[in-house]
Formats: sequence, structure tokens, C-alpha cells
Amino acid sequence: MLTTSGALAVELKGVVKRYHKLLAVNQLNLSINMGEIFGLLGPNGSGKSTTLKMLLGLVKPDEGSIIVLGKDVQKDPVAVKQQVGYVPESPRLYEFLTGIEYLDFIGDIYGMSTEEKKSRITEYLKALQLEGREGDMISSYSEGMKQKIALISAFLHKPRLLILDEPLNALDPRSARIVKEVLHKLKMQGVTAIMSTHVLEIAQAICDRIGIMYQGKLLALGNMSELRQMAKLPDSGLEDIFLKLTGTDDLKAVVEELLK
Ligand SMILES: Nc1ncnc2c1ncn2[C@@H]1O[C@H](COP(=O)(O)OP(=O)(O)OP(=O)(O)O)[C@@H](O)[C@H]1O
Ligand SMILES: [Mg+2]
Repeated sequence: MLTTSGALAVELKGVVKRYHKLLAVNQLNLSINMGEIFGLLGPNGSGKSTTLKMLLGLVKPDEGSIIVLGKDVQKDPVAVKQQVGYVPESPRLYEFLTGIEYLDFIGDIYGMSTEEKKSRITEYLKALQLEGREGDMISSYSEGMKQKIALISAFLHKPRLLILDEPLNALDPRSARIVKEVLHKLKMQGVTAIMSTHVLEIAQAICDRIGIMYQGKLLALGNMSELRQMAKLPDSGLEDIFLKLTGTDDLKAVVEELLK
């Protein structure tokens, strides 16, 4: 059994990640509570994916400490991975397998019983409208269909923590809605989810708290009303807050320059 430190699912302290001279993550301190849906936002290249990969031990930090579900990720990466479901930014699936073969394989990796595996795979294939296509090779799937397989593989073994890097990528509105509802239901069961996204309306609708990254640093952190206060935009939605805080609210001038 894993122990958890207090009610924290994730704790990053002074985390730094450099790719040669490029500072991708710069002194990041972040605590995420158990049972929270946390949204990680930020412009392209701000360090979201690097941060999420460090939570899984896929990328090693140069400095700082990372505790996930009470475990030091560097020392105990397998124990962490067993309890985490991960959807990478560009999922690499075994494309020569069929959808059902792939999901079956993932279920085996997590040691699921045949019965549980079968019933959960069937439910998810149905919910995400992949029924009837599960016997086709993954290489023949559309982008959104591949994304659905990646999502099902993350949810399949009922992980306590979901790390989702742009989970709604390529999904049609109905499927995005279903993923949103599933996350909400899982939260009720105590599951923690950390997701990066550029879909601000979804982040606003489902995230308990949001962190906005900018150039490797956490620029703002809080729930919607706290973010509104920080941006001094009392009546605004997340898009305006995001644009103001990341200094990209002067879009009109940029577009005019382009069209000159
Ligand atoms: N493997 C790598 N080698 C070198 N540089 C990298 C590598 N991975 C990421 N970077 C750099 O680190 C910075 C942060 O990248 P990261 O992928 O974490 O950004 P992101 O916030 O996820 O962006 P996006 O919204 O485009 O997905 C970028 O400047 C990127 O070029
Ligand atoms: Mg990314």
C-alpha cells in the first residue's frame, strides 16, 4: 500500500528542468490536493508537458523534489506508475495491433482480471463510440479514434491519479463532453486528475483550480474567482484572464500587423 503525505496527491518543490541551455521549468513549487481536478494552462512551450512527464519519472528534474501519491518519483517510479493513468501529448500506440488487442494488452500490464478488463473495455468502447471498430488495426484509425484509445488505456485500471496531457486533443464535441463527465464522476470517487489543456472553456467548467504556466514558471494559481482577482477582471471568463496574465491580450495589433 502506498502512503500519502497528508491530503496531497502531488508535491513539487523547487523543480528545475533544463534542456541544455533552455530552462523549460524554472523553480516550480506546486501542491495538488487529493480528489482535485487541476488544470495546467499556458502558452506553447511554457513547460506543461515537461512538468507532467516529470510527475511520471519520464523526465528527470535537474533540481528539486517531486512526491506523487506519497512516493518519491525518482526512487520509486514503478510504484507511482501502477497508480497513475497517463495520456501523453502525442500518444504512441502499437499501431499494428487492433484497438481491442491493445486495450487487452494494457489491462494485462496492470494485472486486471479477464472479466473486469472485458467489461470495462466494452463500456468505454461503447461510451466513446468505438464499438464496431475495435477489431480494426490502430494504424487505420483517425486521430480522434487513437486519442480515445489512449484515454481508455489511462482510465482502464481505475488509477488514483490521472495525468492527462491535452486529453481533449482531436476529440469531437460529444466525446469531449463524455470525457468531461467521466472526470467529474471519477472526482466523486476520490480520483485526482491533472490535465493540461488549451480548451479554456472545459478548464473553466471542470477544474477546481487552475495553474497558468509561463516560461517555465507558475504565473498564477487558484480557482476561477482567485484568478479573476489576480487579473483584475472581476466579470471575465478564463480566456480573457489567460490572455491578460500571459501578456497576449493585444491581439488586434498582432493581427493587423500580419494583414498589412
Ligand atoms: N526533449 C526536449 N529537448 C529539448 N527541448 C525540449 C524538449 N522537450 C521540451 N523542450 C523545450 O522545453 C520547453 C517546454 O516544452 P513543453 O513541451 O513542456 O511545453 P508545453 O507547455 O507542453 O507546450 P505545448 O502547449 O506546445 O504543448 C520548450 O521550449 C521546448 O522546446
Ligand atoms: Mg505540451
